Amino acid sequence: MGIMRSVLLAAAQNRWLKEQAPKYGFVRRTVKRFMPGERLEDALAAAKALEAAGMGSVFTHLGENVTDAAEAAAVEEHYEEVLRRVREAGLGTEVSVKLTHLGLDLSAELCRENLEKIALAARQQGGRGTVWIDMEGSGYVDRTLDIFRRARGGQENVGVCLQAYLYRTSKDLDELLPLEPAIRLVKGAYQESAEVAYPRKQDVDANYLDLAKRMLEARRGGRKVRAAMATHDAALIRRIQEESKRLGAGQRDCEFQMLYGIQSGEQRRLAREGWKSVVLVAYGSHWYPWFMRRLAERPANVMFALKNLAGN
Ligand code: FDA
Repeated sequence: MGIMRSVLLAAAQNRWLKEQAPKYGFVRRTVKRFMPGERLEDALAAAKALEAAGMGSVFTHLGENVTDAAEAAAVEEHYEEVLRRVREAGLGTEVSVKLTHLGLDLSAELCRENLEKIALAARQQGGRGTVWIDMEGSGYVDRTLDIFRRARGGQENVGVCLQAYLYRTSKDLDELLPLEPAIRLVKGAYQESAEVAYPRKQDVDANYLDLAKRMLEARRGGRKVRAAMATHDAALIRRIQEESKRLGAGQRDCEFQMLYGIQSGEQRRLAREGWKSVVLVAYGSHWYPWFMRRLAERPANVMFALKNLAGN
């Protein structure tokens, strides 16, 4: 892992910085590159524009590691409100949640109940949309997959994120595929040791491609897997498209997901070419750790932040 990435990911966990950073104008200006705004209304306006351009959207209300059951319940209620507002706006937007935002640090049972309320609300809103579960640090993977399996036992409309940087993901994918799940494949955004995750980027990329191929093959083999390839890596996207064609699969066999404000040209290109192109739109005021992970993904983002500082 590069030094810059390590420093930024360590800073993402720092409480003092979490309180201080949002006070600075240049930080807030940099955050704007990745978020349409802090309010749900900002996310709804962005989703409308994306839909008009032929793209889908997924909303995530920023926050993680809540330490209070009432706060976790408020997050759950907020997502119910989001689903209602999305339906009223006539949008096809899905939601993506972090289990530690729904109380996983407090109790797995409480968290599962909150998740299932959101999944139920999504179904009652009449949509067939997926409620996605983000994957957080490696210490949460077992509990996340356990909650995913249990939730999925009762409700079809729950999907989960898997991280290609973890050695274990290959086995996790094997075990999940028979469930015909919705899987969002990412490279992985947290600080992990070489004991659990590939330290070299080229190994992460190779594992991503291998996992993506297996998801596509499962689909071609008749399994109703929803294969969501969440990456901005244009070279990898092309390899996946080629693989999809090699397997004789159509554009419906996989979809691409990216983050708001990143590789927007690529997002539009995919949509124009007939691929399902979905944009994850984050909003809310608790953006600090999430924003630091975005900086860590690309050193040029740090330069962008510094330029904003210079323009102060
Ligand atoms: P990579 O990091 O190799 O980047 C490829 C290229 O994309 C870069 O060269 C650059 O051009 C561009 N790029 C990538 N990141 C950028 C950034 N921040 N700013 C500007 N340009 C950037 N992770 C996780 O651990 N759990 C999760 O639940 C999720 N959920 C999730 C959902 C969706 C829809 C996406 C797209 C990503 C996630 N992630 C995630 C984040 C993921 O793990 C990963 O950290 C980022 O997507 C960056 O990796 P890439 O695959 O884009 O490749």
